[in-house]
Amino acid sequence: MALFKWKNHDIEDVEVDLLLHAMLLRYGYDFSGYARASLKRRLLDLTRYFDVKHLSDLLSVMLYDEAVAQTVINSISVPTSEFFRDPSVWKEVRKTILPALDSFPWINIWQVGCGRGEEVYTLAILLHESGLLNKTRIYATDINPAFLQEAKNGVWSSRHLRSWRENYRNSGGEWDFDRYFGPHGDDIAIREDLKKSIEFIQHNLVEDDVFKEMQFVVCRNVLIYFGMALQERVLHLLSRSLERGGYLLLGHSERIIDLHENHPDLDQLDNSSQAYHKVITRHV
Ligand SMILES: C[S@@+](CC[C@H](N)C(=O)[O-])C[C@H]1O[C@@H](n2cnc3c(N)ncnc32)[C@H](O)[C@@H]1O
Repeated sequence: MALFKWKNHDIEDVEVDLLLHAMLLRYGYDFSGYARASLKRRLLDLTRYFDVKHLSDLLSVMLYDEAVAQTVINSISVPTSEFFRDPSVWKEVRKTILPALDSFPWINIWQVGCGRGEEVYTLAILLHESGLLNKTRIYATDINPAFLQEAKNGVWSSRHLRSWRENYRNSGGEWDFDRYFGPHGDDIAIREDLKKSIEFIQHNLVEDDVFKEMQFVVCRNVLIYFGMALQERVLHLLSRSLERGGYLLLGHSERIIDLHENHPDLDQLDNSSQAYHKVITRHV
């Protein structure tokens, strides 16, 4: 038995262009620089979700129904994350970056693309364990206000705990991970004291400006959704946000291409961490 009423046709470029243009004109979000292939895959999923034959069938609905528009935005902006995602990266942050940050009298961190908050609270836990949280301000930003609200709430299903505990241990965590959460009905909620140093702000990498004088910029698994030109533009925005001696942390599979030509002010950290495929660059 067919699961959906319509057999979806392939999405045509003209439909994608029309939808993105409508999104920009009506709601102010510019997704035109996002990587086309993955964008198309997610839009195809959307046609299945709404059970429409063509992507263009969604267009008129999206124009007049904000809830539908929000679903489109959510599907394009993918908040997938975990606490201590890629534990080896956080092990390196514990070992190399946090001790270096301690030399600053005050630490400003920009955590870009915070999604539902797993990564920003990972940072808060690391800073707490290193005794640095009290002299740190973390600006957690995302394009999507719905995700930001969830991040502020800091509530997740308890079914994640097992794998997050394991991530934490693999990142070098030596405490009881569960002590960072309290019960929230059947769910778990992050401890209130870990929220104190965090400010959640809506910020769109495509059109908004730098965060000045950051000692640490964490932008992981966001650039992968962008086309090359947008990636390069955003990398300049991120590096301009860094203070001299600050650090930039990208995602597991994200690399700066032609680093020395395009970003002479950045250095890739020269240590064993390369083996873990992480990219940490140093502003000099
Ligand atoms: C896959 S999540 C990354 C979450 C976390 N950084 C991690 O690595 O686990 C990507 C996030 O980037 C956000 N994002 C996508 N486009 C953006 C843009 N133009 N400006 C700011 N954030 C954006 C999405 O809303 C989403 O929350």
